[in-house]
Amino acid sequence: MARLSAIIIGANSALSQAMALQLASEQVRVALMASDPDALSPLLPRLGEDPILVEIDIFEPDACREAFERLWEELENVALVVINTAASGLDLSLPYALDRQINAVNVTGFSALANAAFNRMVAQKYGQLAALTSIAGERGGPQVAFHASKAYQQNYLQGLRLHAQRLKLPITISDVRLGYLDKMHGRGSKGWSAPVEKVAAQTLRALRKAKPKVYVTRRWRLISWLSRVLPEFIYNRRKYKSPGA
Ligand SMILES: NC(=O)c1ccc[n+]([C@@H]2O[C@H](COP(=O)([O-])OP(=O)(O)OC[C@H]3O[C@@H](n4cnc5c(N)ncnc54)[C@H](OP(=O)(O)O)[C@@H]3O)[C@@H](O)[C@H]2O)c1
Repeated sequence: MARLSAIIIGANSALSQAMALQLASEQVRVALMASDPDALSPLLPRLGEDPILVEIDIFEPDACREAFERLWEELENVALVVINTAASGLDLSLPYALDRQINAVNVTGFSALANAAFNRMVAQKYGQLAALTSIAGERGGPQVAFHASKAYQQNYLQGLRLHAQRLKLPITISDVRLGYLDKMHGRGSKGWSAPVEKVAAQTLRALRKAKPKVYVTRRWRLISWLSRVLPEFIYNRRKYKSPGA
């Protein structure tokens, strides 16, 4: 059987790199899209045969789509596309500039690439599109635009799932809702965060099972439920730390 390919977008992230290594170890041809390809050159020799690295600027959605289309043409059997780009940030003075940056990455950039990937999968007649979202998308929170943009992503993915079903095509749309990675300096506690390798392995396991929605790590399913059912007067009093606090 012909070799499968996977595209990972937002590849400078440690989580993307851990997923790329695991996919390459399963003989998948890996193609990475990242803002800083130079930083990934030490990773390339560890990614098996013919990995591809493409530079993108997520703030240029049209150029990102063109780069994605060119990359798709270069690959065969693209079984998986993972979107793992996201901007976040907490500033208690709530500057609009932060909202604008988060929306540009998490809403505009995300839609540009999710749309391109889905349409290519429709033409190919199969595929799996996965995005790393967050439990933050399930309810508003202190990082106002981040929470709202993750809700947008989750709804966008749900919509694509509906269209895949309408078209009767074996296209899987997976919403991977993350809790905390242990790279969250200053936020969350060590006890709540999970190592990148564990998150990567659990994510890929869930993708292999074609799950439409999954919590990673698994404990966040319960926490997410609790967060959703908490009454306003309790939810709004929850404690969080601003960066550097
Ligand atoms: N870290 C956590 O604890 C946590 C918790 C919940 C949900 N999540 C979600 O899980 C996913 C992966 O998390 P992560 O920690 O691996 O993400 P990350 O490293 O912060 O960001 C992933 C990628 O997004 C792009 N990016 C990040 N900030 C950007 C900015 N300000 N402007 C433009 N591009 C930016 C970069 O892409 P390039 O590679 O192209 O540079 C980066 O590699 C994200 O969707 C995140 O929202 C993370």
